[in-house]
Amino acid sequence: MIVDLILTNMRAYVNREIVGCNLAVDNGKIFKIGKEATMPRAETKLDLNNLLVLPGLIDAHVHLRDEGKAYKEDFTSGTAAAAAGVITTVLDMPNNEPVTMSAEVLRNRMKKAEKRVLVNVGFYSEFPQNMREVANIVKEGSVAFKLFMANQVGKLNIEDDNAILEAFRILSKLKTLVAVHAEDRPMLRRNEEKLKRANRHDIEAFLDAHSENVETKAVKRILNIVKQTCTQVHFCHISTKNGLNAVTDGKKSGLPITCEATPHHLLLSVEDFRRKGTLSLTMPPLRQKHHVTALWRAVKDGWIDIFGSDHAPHTAEEKKAENIWAVKVGIPNLETTLPLLLTEVKRGRLSIGDIVKLMAEKPAELFKLKGKGFLKKGNDADLTVVDLKRKHKIDVAKFYSKAKYSPFDQWIVEGKPVKTFVNGTLIMDEGEIVAKAGCGKIVRRKQP
Ligand code: DOR
Ligand code: ZN
Ligand code: ZN
Repeated sequence: MIVDLILTNMRAYVNREIVGCNLAVDNGKIFKIGKEATMPRAETKLDLNNLLVLPGLIDAHVHLRDEGKAYKEDFTSGTAAAAAGVITTVLDMPNNEPVTMSAEVLRNRMKKAEKRVLVNVGFYSEFPQNMREVANIVKEGSVAFKLFMANQVGKLNIEDDNAILEAFRILSKLKTLVAVHAEDRPMLRRNEEKLKRANRHDIEAFLDAHSENVETKAVKRILNIVKQTCTQVHFCHISTKNGLNAVTDGKKSGLPITCEATPHHLLLSVEDFRRKGTLSLTMPPLRQKHHVTALWRAVKDGWIDIFGSDHAPHTAEEKKAENIWAVKVGIPNLETTLPLLLTEVKRGRLSIGDIVKLMAEKPAELFKLKGKGFLKKGNDADLTVVDLKRKHKIDVAKFYSKAKYSPFDQWIVEGKPVKTFVNGTLIMDEGEIVAKAGCGKIVRRKQP
């Protein structure tokens, strides 16, 4: 037997520990992991020179855009950014143009993406007008549903808890997860109206509008619904101490919920927002330091399930405006997330095991992504290869994302993305994209 590829002289995270080994790839899958003497013959051998290989990382929170928003990001630029950030699978949020909220729109989006993606891509859906369509969307292979509570994106009335309850019951029956952007629309609208009436359009006004209570209120509304429906709910980008406490209390009482933290909420605070201005404007916003401390405590204590980048690209013009209400919210993060987290490994705040758990094992489990999450025989040969010792400077000019701005620009990070393998093919090598679009696969949720 001659396999396609053998990686030699590497260290890898296998069975929850870092071991020296070789890894054979055949037909896009991991064929064998073991000592050199036990390896089959191979078409190609690649000496990894003691680099560290992790299970291909999954970013469960990405806005890939394309279609009507391709001027901000498209399938190829977004997945090239993922590849550059050693992310091998991304899950795409549905606030697109058109909004992903029907089987037909989803099918078209998958078809358009198929030939243009460098990494694997799965798709979320928003809620349609007609709830009968939900089952068709699930059948089409959507990985999960997304509920934006801060503004009306889908057709489910986000101000009507009974309507949400009914929709969640359906999702519960279909054993499909709902990811939630928890910011309470009615409270947010009241805050915004009051501030606008007072002619407030400065940076602080955005913080006042998106108050802590806006998050906590929405989390509590959803927890109340989960109590009645037992729907699997995943809270995106938890950013406040009280929001987090509500989630951990819900978990302690046995509710089927999980939550995400983003690198910007973990590594930046409201002071950075004031210093860096509108390019660091995101939703929910950066918070005061005590919230950041609470988030790190929760990471340490195991309450955070997933690190997601919330890669949310916009144009440079859209990120600048005199009037805060006119600025587009979001930070492109695919190329910064892993180097930032590896730097925290160096500082002792995280372990490699934490990163693998929160960016590979847990997302694979939650979103039912078959063949992903672990380095083991038979799994997809999605590999994240990093050099823990190499320092470099984050430089937005080098981004593959169309969005060339970042609050992390010029930060010195330690831990460099070196190679990205997707389904056994090397797609990024030393920062260069070395494969053609189409190497990524469309990931469909395993059907129940
Ligand atoms: O900052 C954000 N950007 N928050 C969201 O909820 C949406 C996202 C986007 O799509 O730009
Ligand atoms: Zn969000
Ligand atoms: Zn988002």
